[in-house]
Amino acid sequence: MRDVHAYLGAWMQRAGMSVRVDNAGNLRGLYVASSPGGPTLYIGSHLDTVPNAGAFDGVLGVVLAIALVELLRQRRLPFSIEAIGFSEEEGVRFGVPFIGSRALAGTLDADLLARTDAQGRSMADAIREYGLDPSRIGDARSGDDALGYLEFHIEQGPVLDDLGLPLGVVNTIVGQSRLTVTFTGSTNHAGTTPMHARRDAVAGAAEWITAVETLAQRTPGLVATVGRVLAQPGATNAVAGVCEASLDVRHASDEARAAAVETLRHAAAQIASRRHLRVHWDTHLDQGSVAMAPALVARLERAVETLGAPARRLDSGAGHDAMIMAARMPAAMLFLRSPRGISHHPDEAVIEGDVAAALAVGLAFLEDLAGAIT
Ligand code: HGY
Ligand code: MN
Ligand code: MN
Repeated sequence: MRDVHAYLGAWMQRAGMSVRVDNAGNLRGLYVASSPGGPTLYIGSHLDTVPNAGAFDGVLGVVLAIALVELLRQRRLPFSIEAIGFSEEEGVRFGVPFIGSRALAGTLDADLLARTDAQGRSMADAIREYGLDPSRIGDARSGDDALGYLEFHIEQGPVLDDLGLPLGVVNTIVGQSRLTVTFTGSTNHAGTTPMHARRDAVAGAAEWITAVETLAQRTPGLVATVGRVLAQPGATNAVAGVCEASLDVRHASDEARAAAVETLRHAAAQIASRRHLRVHWDTHLDQGSVAMAPALVARLERAVETLGAPARRLDSGAGHDAMIMAARMPAAMLFLRSPRGISHHPDEAVIEGDVAAALAVGLAFLEDLAGAIT
């Protein structure tokens, strides 16, 4: 993260921005308005990613924000632009996503700072070790002068690629629930424990995981994923007494998502009781669906149409910082096509012409906004 801050920070400075890192670890470049006291447009995305990821999820949006300011060639607008590289959006290290944008939106509750990573280090420790001050994380909150928040991001799905379209305008970012379920039975010897005498936590989890997939396959608009499974003691010749499984549930309707989580909790309880297992749940995220701001979306659509491209509207199955920033200011997102719909994978890609088109849309968007203000 230090190398990325140094590299992108230097680029921000060359583009005419003053650069700082706030106490949530967000990289922030401020391109001031033609006259002081004007409002601020925030443009950004996240700099963190997932293990074994591609090269564009998040960081493309930060680089496009900087490139957009660079295209202004020191010309000042009637509003300031703050380019932001959020520190932590994926939730990989501490199990809770959107830490950087929550700090900007002012919705980061202090108890999150006590959450620990796999090495037992707390979020506050990590912030201190970076040379920042977690007690002043409140300073990261955005000003009250926000015009809005714009995020460029790869679609991470197949819709635009299937339609042969370079860009899309986001309608709604679907809600998501992130939980961990732990099945507990009893560890025993794989060779001497008769099948009828086992309380096998992995077998119980496996039965439940199949129920997760079956429910999602049968429920329109629902996706449900078990991405991480941890067996203890994890020996090949021991019946596992403990099995921990992650659960990621998403749906455009918050009611449908809540109903799905409830159904899967009930399924786990039934499987556990039949197999004499115990079940424990931890909830890490219950993030409702967020609609993008209609006026900002309309402005973004107009910018796309000035390029002669259709402004295709679509929902986002992936979560984004825009859903957090929307609590604080009007938010809008421009998607770039994901070739073959691949993401969270090294084969994640973008098409250079689409990136150029996104920049041109961004410029048209800025001009339109400037025209509306002066
Ligand atoms: O998981 C997601 O929705 C995104 O990659 N943060
Ligand atoms: Mn991601
Ligand atoms: Mn992302």
